[in-house]
Amino acid sequence: MKSPSSFDEGDFDFCGNNIRVSHLGVEMSLRSEIAKLRKEVRGELKKVSSLEELDTLWVRVLGRKGKLTSLTRELGRLSSTERPTVGKMVNELRQAFETSFAEKRRELERELRERKLEKETLDITLPGKLPQLGGKHLITQIIEEVIRIFIGLGYQVAEGPEVELDYYNFEALNTPPDHPARSLQDTFYIRRKGERPMAEDVLLRTHTSPVQVRVMEKTKPPIYIIAPGRAYRHDVPDPTHSPMFHQIEGLAVDRNITFGDLKGTLEVFAREMFGGERKVRLRPHFFPFTEPSAEVDVSCIICDGKGCRVCKYSGWLEILGAGMVDPNVLENVGYDTEEITGFAFGMGVERIAMLKYGVSDIRLFFENDVRFLKQF
Ligand code: DAH
Repeated sequence: MKSPSSFDEGDFDFCGNNIRVSHLGVEMSLRSEIAKLRKEVRGELKKVSSLEELDTLWVRVLGRKGKLTSLTRELGRLSSTERPTVGKMVNELRQAFETSFAEKRRELERELRERKLEKETLDITLPGKLPQLGGKHLITQIIEEVIRIFIGLGYQVAEGPEVELDYYNFEALNTPPDHPARSLQDTFYIRRKGERPMAEDVLLRTHTSPVQVRVMEKTKPPIYIIAPGRAYRHDVPDPTHSPMFHQIEGLAVDRNITFGDLKGTLEVFAREMFGGERKVRLRPHFFPFTEPSAEVDVSCIICDGKGCRVCKYSGWLEILGAGMVDPNVLENVGYDTEEITGFAFGMGVERIAMLKYGVSDIRLFFENDVRFLKQF
């Protein structure tokens, strides 16, 4: 018995009638399957909302095991007369699918691009992020303030090296080799331990006073300069000591400079710097490079001289060292000490900042905690 699906095709005589036997059933069902698939895929394509979904659908329809591919295989069951028509339909369907898949792909890609663009749009009307503005360090501010005051008095600003020769730091400043200020304990020497100090030794300057000598060596009087800068001492950091700190040196050398000029100059400075009716007091002291020498106090800027914790109930605050330039120093630079006299002073910048702003620990200036620094 032949199964119905494998009837021979062709024209047959059947009870005197010529009938055409074909796989009409197969053709019919293929046609309707083609129509069904067309409709189904159209519907599904509409629902596709991503490229991934599109790819999955593609595999399901047009892939090796896809629905259209199996339809194509079914063509083999058709007669040779039917095959071309139905085959054409299948081919057309394949082409139609390919077109609409490609269209859908373009559409999805465009949407994707648009969504991405939308997300990346810059709103140029949004306020910008404010950059953190820096400010001047309090030490810089104090130095600039002192410079401003002395420029007003006709002084010029001079500078010298922080890495200095022993000669300028000590020797030329009338500080002999066995002077305690040269102690290995408080000077950063670039010299082998135990060796005798020599003028050509290199060290970190322990004060700004060597600038006096460097300027006088190169310049004839009159000289009116201040020299701000860093100084170094071999000190262990504590609330009042830092191995690096700042000083401002002052030097006035001219004919007829007197101790009175020194005091008047310092009074002007104290009033400009600390305001009001500041009084200045000079106490006898010793420095190798000045003679006579003095320690200079200003009436307490907190209690105005009445006595408080800051001035330790003395009413006075020590702010600098000063004196008349020792003739030995002037001779070291070849000045005629019969004609020329001068005064000099040196102040610690951190000390002034601490007094002025009530800062109790010098280390705060160099720890660089912005919360501290931005207060000034
Ligand atoms: N150089 C001294 C120091 O560091 C300060 C000083 C005192 C400077 C007296 C001077 C001066 O010019 O005349 O302690």
